[in-house]
Amino acid sequence: MTMIIAQITDTHLSDVDAADPKFSARAENLRACIADINDLDPLPDAVIHTGDITQHGRAAEFDHARALLQSLEAPLYVTPGNRDGREGVIRAFTVDGYFMPDYAFVHYAIDEHPVRLVAVDSLGNGIGPKGDFCHDRLAALDATLAEAPARPTVLFMHHPPFDVPTAPDPFAYQRRQAVVDLATVVSRHKQVIHIFAGHMHRPWTAMLGGVKASTVPSVASDLRYGSYLPTMATQPVYQIHQFDGDEGFVNEPRLPGSGVGYPNT
Ligand SMILES: [Fe+2]
Repeated sequence: MTMIIAQITDTHLSDVDAADPKFSARAENLRACIADINDLDPLPDAVIHTGDITQHGRAAEFDHARALLQSLEAPLYVTPGNRDGREGVIRAFTVDGYFMPDYAFVHYAIDEHPVRLVAVDSLGNGIGPKGDFCHDRLAALDATLAEAPARPTVLFMHHPPFDVPTAPDPFAYQRRQAVVDLATVVSRHKQVIHIFAGHMHRPWTAMLGGVKASTVPSVASDLRYGSYLPTMATQPVYQIHQFDGDEGFVNEPRLPGSGVGYPNT
């Protein structure tokens, strides 16, 4: 059994007619990633966007994002970033039909692929960029995971639930206990094999509750952190996660236009 997930994150898009050229450059970054994803053979089973789809969470920004993202040929699943806000994502993406309508937050499972996908809403309360998990969200996650204990499952969320020591502020949550509580839920469900996140705009890998967890660079190349050649200043990067059974997910950062193939092929 194999499954290929393309992950895009932190696109930070503005309106289609935003005056600042950095926003048209970010739209171009996303267009390049989408074109590359659509050229992959085989197509990924799914594309996940792990949040900060927009810069300010405005409706016109979501309109622009949707207009770009709708050219993806593989199914797209989204989760909110702190820049987006929960209501903006719900307003913009409910039409796609995969959100579970019973929740006041973004929570859903996708069962139609070889690996089950579960979206987790990591938005914090109040002002500021940091994340949190309330009791209701963790209870919803626990119940959703209990529905399919034998299916390999990944979680995806915006805020990485682990320290990223290369970041100026390594911890993305308002409370340590939030991540401890998430780890408790995750460790109860042995079918969870990976946690995918965004937010930090740089790569890092860690463990949470016995599960591999990772965050990746932003698609917006002007917001990407880490060491890159100057010639890569406008070159976006996105991620291919390939599931091959025993090894779990293998990650391959991908440069649109490079012609580099899938890992292990
Ligand atoms: Fe971001």
